[in-house]
Amino acid sequence: MEIARTVDELRLHSDAWRALKRMIAIVPTMGALHEGHLSLIREAHRQADEVIVSIFVNPTQFAPGEDLDAYPRDPEGDLEKLRAAGVDLVWMPSVQEMYPDGFATTIHVEGPAKAGLEDTFRPGHFDGVATVVAKLFLQSGANVAVFGEKDYQQLLVVRRMAWDLDIPVKVTGAPIIRESDGLAMSSRNAYLSEEERRKAPALWRALNAAAEAILSGTAPDQATREARADLETAGFEVDYLEARNAQTLAPIDDPSSEPVRILGAARLGRTRLIDNIPLRKED
Ligand code: PAF
Repeated sequence: MEIARTVDELRLHSDAWRALKRMIAIVPTMGALHEGHLSLIREAHRQADEVIVSIFVNPTQFAPGEDLDAYPRDPEGDLEKLRAAGVDLVWMPSVQEMYPDGFATTIHVEGPAKAGLEDTFRPGHFDGVATVVAKLFLQSGANVAVFGEKDYQQLLVVRRMAWDLDIPVKVTGAPIIRESDGLAMSSRNAYLSEEERRKAPALWRALNAAAEAILSGTAPDQATREARADLETAGFEVDYLEARNAQTLAPIDDPSSEPVRILGAARLGRTRLIDNIPLRKED
């Protein structure tokens, strides 16, 4: 497994692979890798000949006061997992390599980035994500990129950005990997106390309760309002819990005739959890 720490080193490998017509996949991560990331790597191996995993805790997608400094970091543990997963190259740039002095460009996405979900509670977040992901795509020359559906709005934002900028990369979403009690795997779960960890799957249960209510005829607004109230009673501070069109993130007109995703974000102590489920398997 190769490790590249500069853009030149990364391009040495990706240019050689492209010359040999090898398909390249990239799995962008911020490290602290868990089974969810490993499932993205397995998907990348299914779609490409060479798999790059980037590890970069991107400062520009954290607002002041968010958890940039506390964000879990485990470079040695990550490299061991990536070796075992058969990754070909790890892209580990420094902040200075990614954002050299004088860096002055930001990619700003509208559409799915302005859906009134994560963007309301993390202003500026998607500017940071879109900018760094565009750089990862252009640096690596990847043909395919794999993102987890846990950050569902991020997946749609990245897909829109690549499409709008004519970056020739296929953006693939991979299903959420859950703990046995339903909690979506996330590097941030490491922040949960024992008691919070026990409570945390209530977010997933609330999304399912809303889905069941909608499927049995309750209006989406009412179903999500009730699920949100249950979550608040259980001690969560809820940022949003909403049913949206799965392709556009627009509010739902008629749940029986459009693909629906139910998305939620809530705080439990100092941990902010996000999760989502499709209304039906095919959504
Ligand atoms: O989902 C993440 O881990 C990050 O937002 C990403 C896509 C690696 C960009 O920094």
